[in-house]
Amino acid sequence: MTAEFMPVYLALFFGLSYSLKLLWISIFKQKSTDLQLPKGNMGWPLVGETLAFLKPHKSNSISNFIQEHCSRYGKVFKSHLFGTPTIVSCDLELNIFILQNEERNKVSSIGFGVHDILGKLSMMLISGELHKKLRSVAISFINVSKSSHEFLHYVEKLSVSLIGSWKEEKRILFFKEAKEFTLYLMLKNLLNMEPEDPLAVRIFEDFLTFMKGFVSLPLYIPGTAYAKAIKARTRISSTLMEVIKERKKIGAGQVNGDFLDEILTKECLNDEERVSVLLDLLLAGYETTSGLMALVVYFLAQAPFALQQLKEEHQTIRKRKKDGEALNWEDYKEMEFTSYVINEALRCGNLVKFVHRKAVKDVEFKGYLIPAGWQVLPIFSATHLDPTLHHNPFEFNPQRWTDPATSKKVTPFGGGLRHCPGTELGKLETAFFLHHFVHNFRWKAKEEDYPMSCPYMEFKGGLELELELVQKNKG
Ligand code: HEM
Repeated sequence: MTAEFMPVYLALFFGLSYSLKLLWISIFKQKSTDLQLPKGNMGWPLVGETLAFLKPHKSNSISNFIQEHCSRYGKVFKSHLFGTPTIVSCDLELNIFILQNEERNKVSSIGFGVHDILGKLSMMLISGELHKKLRSVAISFINVSKSSHEFLHYVEKLSVSLIGSWKEEKRILFFKEAKEFTLYLMLKNLLNMEPEDPLAVRIFEDFLTFMKGFVSLPLYIPGTAYAKAIKARTRISSTLMEVIKERKKIGAGQVNGDFLDEILTKECLNDEERVSVLLDLLLAGYETTSGLMALVVYFLAQAPFALQQLKEEHQTIRKRKKDGEALNWEDYKEMEFTSYVINEALRCGNLVKFVHRKAVKDVEFKGYLIPAGWQVLPIFSATHLDPTLHHNPFEFNPQRWTDPATSKKVTPFGGGLRHCPGTELGKLETAFFLHHFVHNFRWKAKEEDYPMSCPYMEFKGGLELELELVQKNKG
């Protein structure tokens, strides 16, 4: 394989594995003979236009590929991507229509080794009743976390400790620090593990290896990042299985007050499913939230007015609280401007650029035909940065969120039956971290170390921050 094709396979793999599934949508409309396929270009045999589609670009920009295709063919066009005929949608209405019209009982299998790396029971790959069952377990975990004082305190405690560890530092690689922070939060909440627990350290190291392989060439050749990732996943699963067995020995029930206690009492789950849900939550909860934290910190570094307003909001909350008094859910709900900042970072930064769906029946949309069996890719970033939907779309402007209509024009958490159940949890963790960060530090980020869509979100330089400790009035 030549070097120039390596990124295609890599990106093919990640493009698929990031959305982690091909879902079938079923829309009950009859095929009409006068319907036309959208215009477009099917590209080269097999590879189609995949290489151009996946070319890395600033995540707060529309790629050249999308721009050129939209101006030539319109916002909905046909192509050939990831080895299959595809309709690409940069149209908000169609994206929402697709997200909300899933038929859960008909899911296609997915190739490129994703089953191997994620495990066959991963929520991202299953469908129907099994998906419903595991999703409801994940939702109950997230709901319990949001309303648990202990967990909210822990988010704050870990934020304070992380930020405290930077007091002697002039520079930090923020993205890595954020990843560690969010993984330890998940480990505490799921398994009652503290960062210094030897098992937590083992899981963290295996996770780093796992994530490296997750974005590498998906060929099982011993010694490659991919092969190491599969082994790391097997080790994480075995560690989780060991923890489950140990807990069972002591007796299932409310021993530690964590999620594992909770799922051990659920008789509808077997141990393999328990391990899979734990892995899904670790993965989904840690990568995305750390990405969100990094985006917020990056955009705020370039937006002094927004940062000032954010600081004022957090100072007001701090002043109202007694010294050392913990943040709670009500405080989070009052962080209105913070929520604008987070939403705007998601709109501009496009943590998840697109997801995969597939039509099970012929679909008619605005006179177009989407034939049964074709893949459909709703491109979230294209609508997030669409000038017909958002005024000055490339400008980071949290104030646009004062208009309630803005939230109807973005889909950073997907939609429909697979809408992200961790939305509020990820936002809350980011908001609590920001509360202490803006209170303690000024920071600079290099403008050129911008977020990249690879298509997973990445900072080439790891988002190096230059830190300066600030004098506090209170707290
Ligand atoms: C903070 C930023 C986050 C973003 C931008 C995000 C984005 C998304 C998106 C777009 C999907 C849908 C994928 C699809 O339709 O194919 C999704 C699914 C999911 N997310 Fe999140 N997520 C975030 C945080 C979290 C957190 C903190 C958790 C859990 C602790 C979580 C758990 C999940 C799970 C379990 C699914 C699969 C749902 C299903 O298939 O039914 N996410 N996320």
